[in-house]
Amino acid sequence: MARILDGYQTEAMREAASIIQNGGVVAFPTETVHGLGADAFNPEAVARIFELKNRPRFDPLIVHVAELSDVEKIWLKADDRAKKLMERFWPGPLTIVLPKRPEVPHVVTAGLPTVAVRLPSHPVALSLIREARTPIAAPSANPFGYLSPTTAEHVREQLGDGIEIILDGGSCPVGVESTIIALYQEEPLLLRPGGTPLEEIERVIGRVKIAPPDPGRPRSPGQLPHHYSPRTPLKMLTEGDIDGRQGVRIGLLAFQRPREGNFAAVEVLSPSGDLRAAAANLFAALHRLDSAGLDFILAEPVPEEGLGRAIMDRLRRGSS
Ligand code: TXA
Ligand code: MG
Repeated sequence: MARILDGYQTEAMREAASIIQNGGVVAFPTETVHGLGADAFNPEAVARIFELKNRPRFDPLIVHVAELSDVEKIWLKADDRAKKLMERFWPGPLTIVLPKRPEVPHVVTAGLPTVAVRLPSHPVALSLIREARTPIAAPSANPFGYLSPTTAEHVREQLGDGIEIILDGGSCPVGVESTIIALYQEEPLLLRPGGTPLEEIERVIGRVKIAPPDPGRPRSPGQLPHHYSPRTPLKMLTEGDIDGRQGVRIGLLAFQRPREGNFAAVEVLSPSGDLRAAAANLFAALHRLDSAGLDFILAEPVPEEGLGRAIMDRLRRGSS
């Protein structure tokens, strides 16, 4: 069971930061809700977050930074609108989405070419990011389908079995998640209302379009127009598919080992059969196959347990 440690104590902070640096996951308070954080530049650590949340699918995560200049490692470029918003609302409950640098692992963005960043105002969150010396990718620290936690106790009840440390910083003062604004197109787009009022944002950058609600799955990034799907047709592999066809370039996305067959490109997700490693590699592997000039991609099914469920969900949704 996770230990709740006072986030204002130096020793606790050191321990938490060293877990992050060693590829582990720590729950920490922000001014909005608690987050479940890992080193944003360590794909396997990020995959572990999805495993802990028991999510049947991958969602792009918010990368938390402690200095304005940290965004240079994450976004290709902060345009003038982003700079104005950062100046006015950071630190605070505003998340901004812009095109990502290639160094940001695909598992952080669920394969999207854009990445969400925010600079929280909670002192415990800020010291954790500074002490760990890396931006921290974190979703809200609740299991799939549960309410977002605003106290350390909430986190322990919901996720206490899987993590070592929950940093306590008192109850989260804002109590709702950050507002999310996408700036990757002409018109700023509100992806999620939250702790920073839309009216105040519009006062700084002018009119913001509200992302069309989606009847089936509200605000699910899988439904957003910019969600990444390979352009190359993707198909689940069945036994009959293996006896290669002539003159067609087929790519294989294998789980543990390449298969016999006439494949023009092969990606192996995890030679040791580790679903977390497979999840960490999934989007990067799909990107490589997608740029290999293939006619189609065959994806081998993975076991539907743990992160395997999220992997299979992604493959099914991506397949034609
Ligand atoms: O207040 C908050 O934002 C909290 C604290 C921990 O910072 N975090 C949070 O994370 O609410 P999460 O994962 O529960 O929600 C993040 C939302 C998701 O709905 C996700 O779809 C969206 O951000 N998102 C992240 N990256 C995105 C991207 N590149 N494009 C579109 N949406 C993105
Ligand atoms: Mg959430």
